[in-house]
Amino acid sequence: MKKSINTFLKHPTKDNANRSANPPVTRASTILFDSMQEMYRHELKIKKHQKVSHYTYGRYGSTTTIELENILKELEQAYHVFLTGTGFGGIALALMSLCRPGDEILVSDNVYGPTKEISKELMHEFNIKAKFYDPDSFKDLQQKISKKTKMILVENPGSNTFEFQDLSKITALAKRKKIYTLLDNTWGTPLYLKPLKLGFDMSFCSATKYFSGHSDAMGGSLAVNKKVFRKIMFFYKLSGYRMSADEAYLIIRGLRTLDTRLSKHSENTKIVINFLKKQKKIKEILYPHNPNSKNYKLWKKYYSGATGLFSIVIKSKKKSSVIKFVNSLELFGIGYSWGGFESLAILQELKSSKKDEYLKGRQFYRFDNDEYVVRLHIGLEDPKDLINDLKKGLKKIK
Ligand SMILES: Cc1ncc(COP(=O)(O)O)c(C=O)c1O
Repeated sequence: MKKSINTFLKHPTKDNANRSANPPVTRASTILFDSMQEMYRHELKIKKHQKVSHYTYGRYGSTTTIELENILKELEQAYHVFLTGTGFGGIALALMSLCRPGDEILVSDNVYGPTKEISKELMHEFNIKAKFYDPDSFKDLQQKISKKTKMILVENPGSNTFEFQDLSKITALAKRKKIYTLLDNTWGTPLYLKPLKLGFDMSFCSATKYFSGHSDAMGGSLAVNKKVFRKIMFFYKLSGYRMSADEAYLIIRGLRTLDTRLSKHSENTKIVINFLKKQKKIKEILYPHNPNSKNYKLWKKYYSGATGLFSIVIKSKKKSSVIKFVNSLELFGIGYSWGGFESLAILQELKSSKKDEYLKGRQFYRFDNDEYVVRLHIGLEDPKDLINDLKKGLKKIK
């Protein structure tokens, strides 16, 4: 019977041995075989990328991680999915597997801060140069491509400022120029956007966010096509990247309700945005909500849904009053990460400044000095309560 992906997420495996509705958590280093011949046959199967239910050694994963790989393969329509201990590990895995000294990488200027840092600082140590392009200008991307460009790394929409890019134009250009492409799809998840179908070679998600959904697990998923599979597998196996069985179990558990949670995040976000757009203290809402905007059109062109993370731009003479606003919120936690059940708020420092070594600042930043970007994650609470909290908090802004 042909099933929708939402049904598939409820029924990926049963544990036949224990008769549980969930897969077992297999913690293993040694995997036992009946004979040397069986071990050799199994190794050959893995080498040929045939479907297996276990690996030959715990470093490569366990039955639990294979279960998660299979679910994500289906969700991403991927040739293979590599699992890592954190999302960040997935980004590092892609760069370290495919880029070599003398190469250049082109990175959208609005990527998650540490992605910028690894591209710029760590890659520099290996004589790999990162160039950052303006996410609002395809021309800028085009002009920055050189004979040395090995990879284009896009995050869509970009962290904190939520620009949407014309994704098919990027993959078409990269294919012509024989450049690898990676999309950080943590915001949309493969439920709302399938990067590999759009021609990206790699689709990355921080599984820490919506996949797990409960702010209690970390992981990364790098879904790939056949073209890049061997090179990434080579590096993956030798560098010891891995996800634990316990973490994989929690992420499988989260994925069962991914569709239901995302619909609710999205519904709540629309209600909260309807309130926020009437507030005079908010200059702009960085979320695809205005049908006349370029970002909305680009979102609509590619996505089948929108999730719960966005930013508001607050114009204020006093940064301290914006901080007071964030501090005063009772239902929005102050903290990194997002994609869990709970609402979060954080003031983002995005302007280039020497002090801000961690994020290294934006090269393309369109907001004025008295404009502040506050990122909100809308959780699964009653949106009426969230609105009341925000209403109270906004009074603090001067
Ligand atoms: C867009 C995006 N990509 C990647 C990551 C890294 O994921 P992790 O925190 O799981 O390492 C994050 C984390 O916040 C993120 O927001």
